Amino acid sequence: MNINRRDFVLSGAAAAFAAAGPKTAFGQAPFDVAQGRPTMLTPRSVKPVVISSSNGNRFKNGGTMTCVEKAFSLITKGSDVLDALVEGVNIVELDPLDTSVGYGGLPNADGVVQLDSSCIHGLKKRAGAVAAIEGVRTPSRVALAVANETDHHLLVGRGAQEFARNMGFTIEDDLNTDTSRARWLEWKRRIDPEHYLDPKKRAERGRQVMLDMVREGLLDENHIYGTINCDGVSPKGEVCGVTTTSGLAWKIPGRVGDSPILGAGLYVDGAVGAAGSTGRGEANLFNLCSFLIVEEMRRGASPKDAGMAALKRIAANTIEKRLLNDKGRPNFGLNFYVLNAKGEHAGVSMYDATYAVCTENGPQTVRTEALYEGKPTE
Ligand code: GLY
Repeated sequence: MNINRRDFVLSGAAAAFAAAGPKTAFGQAPFDVAQGRPTMLTPRSVKPVVISSSNGNRFKNGGTMTCVEKAFSLITKGSDVLDALVEGVNIVELDPLDTSVGYGGLPNADGVVQLDSSCIHGLKKRAGAVAAIEGVRTPSRVALAVANETDHHLLVGRGAQEFARNMGFTIEDDLNTDTSRARWLEWKRRIDPEHYLDPKKRAERGRQVMLDMVREGLLDENHIYGTINCDGVSPKGEVCGVTTTSGLAWKIPGRVGDSPILGAGLYVDGAVGAAGSTGRGEANLFNLCSFLIVEEMRRGASPKDAGMAALKRIAANTIEKRLLNDKGRPNFGLNFYVLNAKGEHAGVSMYDATYAVCTENGPQTVRTEALYEGKPTE
């Protein structure tokens, strides 16, 4: 994007300058944590864009628009950016065909759908998240209510459900669809034929069964860890993000992934940009990569370079044999969706993948920049 000097405001290099009038697109100076003072150049106006994981341009839940289209259209009509992103991901959460998010998400090992979500408003500097919540089809809306209605950032389990009930959300006994229940039953049948296996064999067998189900077309490889992350920037440079998931298929009940953890599955700094993830949450939780990516961008890295730095950190920190393939590389997929406050963006991934983008030219699914060629298990 071509932004000339007049489109920028150098905010706060001198406090008086910032106070005298020139301000960022948000009417406030961005803040350099290391220096303790605002220093960054921020565009006064940007071309709006919405990015997401590829399922954000696949599912329509019987409607006419995908997640990225819906969010983009609302943002360009002047909607609050976070409200628009949450409306976008609601399409995927509610669509029973996406087995990685919301209603019809693949359940845990007990056959119960437990959902995680987080959201951050870059301008308002508000955040909310829920983890292991049951019975609510749209956990992103509950995360938004945590951000808007409470002094807290993260509610979990029964407490999150009670909060949702009190906020007027419908609580359902079971979010399984016939498909998600059938897949769980098939997994149970395969993993536990005699009902008892020793824990070590069970873990090994669990992974093998998962890979067999992928090969046989019963499980989408991308849905083992599922998730949608969606980030957007408005013409005024307001950046927000949301992540929502049913988490790892067949997880131990109570397992929480990276999606609801601020700094892991999502991080937004309104003056810098947003980053979010899909893929193996444990690897991201260990490295808090969304925070790392935003901090890399704060230091001047492009979205692509910032995302690549995170993937390299994860690869370096993956040393257990069970997590490495024959080439000694991570044997799992992990993707980051990265957007800066200027509207520049990148999708980066451990292995080949795609991500969704919506601009004034409409929605597109494009290739990510991959750290390694091929597939995780090759
Ligand atoms: N990235 C989603 C999860 O691991 O739960």
